[in-house]
This record gives sequence, C-alpha cells and structure tokens, in this order.
Amino acid sequence: MNHVQRDDRPADKALRYEEVAAEIAAVLDGEPNFVARMATVSSMLHDAMPGFFWTGFYLVDNSGGKPGELVVGPYQGTLGCLRIRIGQGVCGKAAADRATVIVEDVNAFPGHIACDSRSNSEIVVPVENAAGELLGVFDVDSTAFAAFDATDAHWLEKILHDSFSR
Ligand code: SME
Repeated sequence: MNHVQRDDRPADKALRYEEVAAEIAAVLDGEPNFVARMATVSSMLHDAMPGFFWTGFYLVDNSGGKPGELVVGPYQGTLGCLRIRIGQGVCGKAAADRATVIVEDVNAFPGHIACDSRSNSEIVVPVENAAGELLGVFDVDSTAFAAFDATDAHWLEKILHDSFSR
C-alpha cells in the first residue's frame, strides 16, 4: 500500500516544522544510536511534511574501502543511489562545502545525480556531530519544482543540529 500521510498537522509550514521538531526531540531523548536517530528523523519528517518524495541521509563512508564517497543511510522513499562522490551532485556539493544547498530545478544543476527522474527540486543540509565532524548530509527531494525555501533550510538545519550536533 502507498504511504498515507496523516492530515492533522498545521497547514502553515513553519508551524508544522515546529510541531514535528518537538516530537522528534521527544522520541530521540535518551537514544544514543545514530542509525536509530537517523531512521527516526527520516520517518517523522517524511510523514509530517507534504511533498517530501525522498527523505534521508547520505553518510561519510568510514567502512575503509571507498574514501571520498558518501554512502546511502536511513531513508524513506523510492530507491536511492547507493554512493555519491563528495563534490559531485547536490549532496556531494553540500558535503564538500558544508553548507545547505537548495536547488529549484535539479535538471538545471550541473552534475546532478538523478536517482529517480520524478524528483524535480531538492534541499541538502550537512550533518555534523558534536565535535564538528561531518557525518554526512540530509537530502529531501520533491516532485514539484522549487518546493524548498529558507523556511525549510532554517527548520531542517535546526532539527539536524538538535538531533546530531549536541
Ligand atoms: N539528487 C541527489 C542524489 C540523491 S537522490 O536524489 C536520492 C544529488 O544530486 O545529490
């Protein structure tokens, strides 16, 4: 069955983020495991935010074999590419620059990696641990063009900082 999103959230995007941010913090309280935390953040944001088509993490690969690559982590949505070179595509740029990237039309982004051709816009936020080390990036894709703006950047940066950087 397709995902059926709950429909009792505030219509205003900032209020919706504020509500789900508090819920995420409550659920994660006392849970130290990063996989559990990342899976929870992906699931709760994907369910709370309308238009999130692919929601999840690409992580610095510490497995030893492939330095300089991000490997897919916990996510919700259709099949994602397994690996992205740091510096390549939108995720790779956000990781290399350690800065949030908003792309209104992915087809116009040089080097964009099309994991699913239905994605048309995206936002990617870098994720650091409390020591300031790069863990990876958080990527949200939408089938709509220009789905993400400064409100998404503000709240996603806050949720990711609160969940992984302190
Ligand atoms: N569009 C991304 C690739 C990852 S996915 O879309 C799931 C990029 O160019 O970084």
